[in-house]
Amino acid sequence: MTAMLHVDEIVKVYRAHGGEVRAVDGVSFEVEAGTTFGLVGESGSGKSTVARCALRLIEPSSGGSRIDGEPIGALRGRALRELRARTGMVFQNPVAALNPRLTVEQSIAEPLRTHTRLRGRALVEQARALLDEVGLARAHAERLPHQLSGGQCQRVGIARALATRPKLLVLDEPTSALDVSVQAQVLNLLQELRREHSLSYLLISHDLDVVRYMSDTAGVMRAGRLVEVGPAMEVLVNPRHEYTQRLLAAMPETPGAIDLSAPPVAPTAPNENRILS
Ligand SMILES: Nc1ncnc2c1ncn2[C@@H]1O[C@H](COP(=O)(O)OP(=O)(O)O)[C@@H](O)[C@H]1O
Ligand SMILES: [Mg+2]
Repeated sequence: MTAMLHVDEIVKVYRAHGGEVRAVDGVSFEVEAGTTFGLVGESGSGKSTVARCALRLIEPSSGGSRIDGEPIGALRGRALRELRARTGMVFQNPVAALNPRLTVEQSIAEPLRTHTRLRGRALVEQARALLDEVGLARAHAERLPHQLSGGQCQRVGIARALATRPKLLVLDEPTSALDVSVQAQVLNLLQELRREHSLSYLLISHDLDVVRYMSDTAGVMRAGRLVEVGPAMEVLVNPRHEYTQRLLAAMPETPGAIDLSAPPVAPTAPNENRILS
């Protein structure tokens, strides 16, 4: 099986205020087609940076990635835009991610206008189909972001990310800003969409419950490095690395946030977790 995303030895050094921050320090992993790879780690461990480098939203200092087998580092201009259109990104703060002056329908139409030839009636119909797909009523089409709840805004964000019919979505803390009661609804929507469209997800979260609920494979980041990777049910239930053990032990109890008694992802065949450092 080929990987939908192959991250190869990415290093990212930020230069700011005369100093250097080695945010990502040689990270490699693969997201298999049709699966979810969950990336966990404390705030500041480099999760968002490695994801942005992987989609080349920012330039890595070294290393690179392949999307559906294509090396993204060599692409320029139109070819890069086309490959990017085969990916989508969902952000942590759903309200801030939307243009406050665009209605829901306009927001969803925007990526369609940029990346497809759809115009006029066909464009509106496609935007409305996306609205249906993310579980928003037609009545929401004319609303502005401030007239929506956080969960509804995130549904718009997901519709926008899906507009170009990507195969790979990067979900960067997609439910961290949402009320606990809404988190599970959005996660379940993401699960349904993944199955329906055979999507692959790179899911970033500092919440181990979220990653365990959603992921086939999990990777644990610490200070710019991937310290452990393996089947999510093993890494996040019986971690081998003492850093992962401490993360699990430090996890706050959030009763009722997500029902873990019925994991939607079947545990993968047990094999050895790889401890990487
Ligand atoms: N644009 C930037 N300029 C300088 N430093 C940054 C920038 N973005 C992130 N960092 C630093 O890089 C490190 C990793 O950040 P980030 O990738 O956002 O981690 P995470 O997503 O795991 O919270 C942190 O020390 C952060 O302060
Ligand atoms: Mg982040």
